Amino acid sequence: MSIKVKGFLKDVGGASRVTELRKQSIENASDVPQPKDFVRELADKLHPASMQFKVVSVKDASPTSKIFRLASVDGHIPVFQAGQYINFRLKIGDSLLTRPYTISSAPFEARGENGFVEVTIRRNRPYLVPDYFFDNVKEGDVLDANMPFGFFYWEPLRDSKNIVALAGGSGITPFLSMAREIAYGKMKGTKITIIYGSVNSSDIVLKNELDEVEKACKDVKVVHVLSDDKDWEGEKGFVTKEIIEKYSGEDPTYMFCGPLPMYKLIVGIMNDMGVRQKRFRHDVMNNPVDATKIEGYPVGNEQKTFNITVVRGVDETVIPASGGEPVAVALERAAIPVDTHCRCGECGFCRTQLLEGDIFVSPMGDGRRMMDKEMGWFHACATYPVSDLKIKIPIM
Ligand code: FES
Repeated sequence: MSIKVKGFLKDVGGASRVTELRKQSIENASDVPQPKDFVRELADKLHPASMQFKVVSVKDASPTSKIFRLASVDGHIPVFQAGQYINFRLKIGDSLLTRPYTISSAPFEARGENGFVEVTIRRNRPYLVPDYFFDNVKEGDVLDANMPFGFFYWEPLRDSKNIVALAGGSGITPFLSMAREIAYGKMKGTKITIIYGSVNSSDIVLKNELDEVEKACKDVKVVHVLSDDKDWEGEKGFVTKEIIEKYSGEDPTYMFCGPLPMYKLIVGIMNDMGVRQKRFRHDVMNNPVDATKIEGYPVGNEQKTFNITVVRGVDETVIPASGGEPVAVALERAAIPVDTHCRCGECGFCRTQLLEGDIFVSPMGDGRRMMDKEMGWFHACATYPVSDLKIKIPIM
């Protein structure tokens, strides 16, 4: 009896019927190849579902960061905008992970026979993936990835031609890409002033590359602001309203990329300065590793462990999950593929359906639409279990 019930439940989604229909379609299919679908071909060129990149070189960008130069194995790199990111698919131990990294090279460098993209990765404990890149990825390796993604780029119809880039730590990467594109590529007529906060001079990521592009083009200016370097002769302390105003010029578009504490500081400064909303853009903000720092997070939940029943097609798997980690992390640890891109709740790629149980959704990046909320969808990268859950995810 129980087997019959299970069989019935398994077919609720009509999986067996679909399989039968599929079989029939294959049997009835023509032997003559289908004519080429140019629209699909174009879409594949612009946004390939998956790509392989060979590591061409690895070099230091600072004592704690490295530049990985990648060339596409099939020779094609999709068109992208300075500021967009590439998403890696990695198998680390038993876990299947996807991780986004902003492209630090410029779009024009991806064109032509020897085109490439570069990512600059900073070792940042306790994050697993930077360590993996540092300790394992070397010249000649081939990595799975797809690109381009993200909306953090200069848009001429919306943004002014005077970009004031506010960066902290490894948040410099989109701005190096923009600066190079201004100096050597297609963004001529635009100027960029990068106000870049670091701790001390040896901590500056991509210092040589920034010096080089600044020297090459009068429309690129870099202002380093060091918080803990008594020998530094330039701007010292944190990035302040006074420093930002000093270097802003006429009608700037402010763009911010950096760590969460700096984001909070910069938002306060933008408000103080009365900057209009359309003139302040920022990259997506990751949730803090420590979930208890998220506003509204239920106290004590981080110490609990739950079971998540994951429904994929007709299969169900039960996995453990910590209350202090997003559902996506539990899925990755259990080697259940989940498509993550932004990893902060905004893009919707990791959309998951809640069938049973209670969740906490981080308010920092709740990108769900009204209909998603009504239908019980949530974004697994920014949602924490608060009880045992039953969820449904698409098969990848
Ligand atoms: S990966 Fe973008 S919303 Fe989860």
